[in-house]
Amino acid sequence: MTLPSIAILGAGSMGRAILSGLLSPNVHVEGGIRVTNRSAEQAATFDNEPRVTALATSENAEANRLAVRGATIVIIGVKPYMVPDLLDEISDALELGAIIISVAGGVTTATLEAHLPERISVIRSMPNTPSKVGLGVTGVCAGSRSSDADLDLATRLFDTVGDVLVVPESQMDAVGAISGSGPAYVYYFIEALTKAGIAHGLTPEQADLAVRGTFRGAVELLAESGETPAELRRQVTSPKGSTERVIAVFDEADLPGLFVRATAASIARSQEMAAGN
Ligand SMILES: NC(=O)c1ccc[n+]([C@@H]2O[C@H](COP(=O)([O-])OP(=O)(O)OC[C@H]3O[C@@H](n4cnc5c(N)ncnc54)[C@H](OP(=O)(O)O)[C@@H]3O)[C@@H](O)[C@H]2O)c1
Repeated sequence: MTLPSIAILGAGSMGRAILSGLLSPNVHVEGGIRVTNRSAEQAATFDNEPRVTALATSENAEANRLAVRGATIVIIGVKPYMVPDLLDEISDALELGAIIISVAGGVTTATLEAHLPERISVIRSMPNTPSKVGLGVTGVCAGSRSSDADLDLATRLFDTVGDVLVVPESQMDAVGAISGSGPAYVYYFIEALTKAGIAHGLTPEQADLAVRGTFRGAVELLAESGETPAELRRQVTSPKGSTERVIAVFDEADLPGLFVRATAASIARSQEMAAGN
């Protein structure tokens, strides 16, 4: 895959996850990759990566403006509250035809566009942390000035770190609630099942091994078998067996309803944050 020149402004946890996809052997970035951070220490971590030019704003106040010069794709990887100031800072240094791709949670395309010249196209995205191992899920939506080609470019970019879901912006908070925050729920279930194992007499090490292996194995089986989750669950749930009792307890607690309520709380919070609260 070939992508045009890229600047990543804010190469922190998420910015580096995307970078790892861009540095994979089957990806070629024409014109190179520039990344920025505030601290020189962060910038120095790229010293042994010849494909990346790293700049620190603490050493060069013009770092972000220099990084976007010549860049076709500009990824905004700073914390959401920092985004408007960063866009104001780079606004008049952007190339004609540059595409801004923001990963900032809850920052709408309207907000992004309000801080950029009219000629600049904006794509909003919601990646998740498994992007770090190439197994991410990223939701993307177009802004009012983006073409299908811009959206296609963003899709190809996030394809380098996993799966991509193209949605209208009205569904971005739902994507955030399901896949954006989703890894946290998975770890929470892993923690809870591990505690249950310990409560039933396994050592912490035994419980940890049993639970990690079970989550990994179940997900791999789902991917490889091509079966639905319902069918794979049925295969473990013999009539009148012990698994059936577990599912009955989950159903009694309305676990599916709990998921809907929990993710609705996430969507409500995203809406509050978009409104500046
Ligand atoms: N982590 C996730 O699971 C996740 C998922 C989806 C979306 N996101 C989004 O990703 C964005 C970044 O989150 P993160 O977890 O990656 O945070 P992070 O690790 O703190 O990364 C932010 C980076 O921005 C740099 N930075 C701050 N101000 C800057 C400036 N003015 N110019 C250039 N660089 C600057 C910081 O550099 P220094 O370290 O030198 O200060 C840091 O490396 C957020 O908007 C978040 O909503 C994160």
